[in-house]
Amino acid sequence: MKIAVAGAGYVGLVTGVVFAELGNEVVCVDIDPAKVDAINKGQSPIYEPGLDELLQRNLEEERLIATTDLAQATRGSEVIFICVGTPPTETGEPDLRHVDTVAATIGRALNGYKIIVNKSTVPIGTGDRVRRIIEQHCTEPHDFDVVSNPEFLREGSAVADTLNPDRIVIGADNPRAAMKIVELYAPLQRPMLITNLATAEIIKYASNTFLALKISFINAIADLCERTGADVVQTAKAMGYDPRIGHAFLQAGLGFGGSCFPKDVQAFVHTVQRYGLDPTLFEQILAINDARPKQFVARIRERLGGLSERTIALLGLSFKPNTDDIREARSLEIIRLLLQEGAIVRAYDPVAMPRVQAIYPQITYCRNAYEAAENADALALITEWNEFRQLNFERIRNSMRQPNLFDGRNVYDPQRMRKLGFYYYGIGRAVDNGDDKTVL
Ligand code: UDX
Repeated sequence: MKIAVAGAGYVGLVTGVVFAELGNEVVCVDIDPAKVDAINKGQSPIYEPGLDELLQRNLEEERLIATTDLAQATRGSEVIFICVGTPPTETGEPDLRHVDTVAATIGRALNGYKIIVNKSTVPIGTGDRVRRIIEQHCTEPHDFDVVSNPEFLREGSAVADTLNPDRIVIGADNPRAAMKIVELYAPLQRPMLITNLATAEIIKYASNTFLALKISFINAIADLCERTGADVVQTAKAMGYDPRIGHAFLQAGLGFGGSCFPKDVQAFVHTVQRYGLDPTLFEQILAINDARPKQFVARIRERLGGLSERTIALLGLSFKPNTDDIREARSLEIIRLLLQEGAIVRAYDPVAMPRVQAIYPQITYCRNAYEAAENADALALITEWNEFRQLNFERIRNSMRQPNLFDGRNVYDPQRMRKLGFYYYGIGRAVDNGDDKTVL
């Protein structure tokens, strides 16, 4: 099939590369000529495991090419995916400017029947909006269909998630269009659900909001654990054995960041309000999440008796491991709070440092975790990269001014750390957390 993908960000580029890998002819379109050049040279503009290799193979085998010319890409394709960004506006509602521009260009370029597939996370009703814009910009009447095909990929495992999705949702009001998209995904042999447009649009938001709810729920439980001497890690573990609850997304910590959850929950709140319903439940997800960095910094302040002139070493800056993405990363808010109170901040992250440096040039960026910890009054784990799991903590303890460890992701064993001579603080972890063993 001939496919155009508008927007070569995380979703667009991964989608394009995977469709090429499945044997389709793909044109990736982006307004940024530097991005287009990089893609055509086989250099992915984003860091994503496995992506470079797939990109290079499909470029070499001439199944994929990048361009800035969306009109030409539209004319040459049967299916056009819209994968452009929908950043939140000041009010929290998604900015649909890029979606509108792409729809208008597609409308002007229509030269026969096409299927326009929305993959960007867009408010309920955007499918109809795209249809209207295309109709308004069509110079000659051509038949077309709009489909909603929400994306569920996670950064850091985007390629694997796209090749092996839990489910594929295809929202179309015309069965002919739905069947064409079914054909496109058939080689993946994954469960597919065909719904109407509005349902597909809701599925995306309801899924992400529910996952964010699980995270905020366990973080609220963590706060209670802290007050009562209970341990949230054991609590979540025991809860998760109930198959109706499950273990996933019950890791208490600094809360969620990234390009999806904060933005999607906020947009969902607006949608619920717009339809005259009570958004309180969804607002609380954000309120709990927003409070996490502040509470964490408060714990450090309490321990050190103030933050002014204290040196705090941060491990991990990206919003989660295996990505250089720092959108809504908890690290940014933590750095802001620390600097505001006069702390000296040192940091290390395997890949995200250049991005953070562009925002906070005034902090010290280190070559590894050990360098970051040198002479620090506190060491704080912000993002649980694997390389931080097995550090030589004797070495770290000896190089610090004061051995204070603040574990923002509950990665370390509290007892072990205390035995090693650290003051250890984990989120919602009991001072004496008992024997953390599962007896089978
Ligand atoms: C998410 C969804 O998982 C994906 O389906 C959707 O398409 C886009 O949004 P992503 O933002 O890439 O993907 O990351 P994810 O792995 O879901 O993590 C989101 C945030 O939640 C991270 O900041 C992570 O640290 C945090 N998190 C996750 C927790 O704090 N606790 C958990 O138990 C799980």
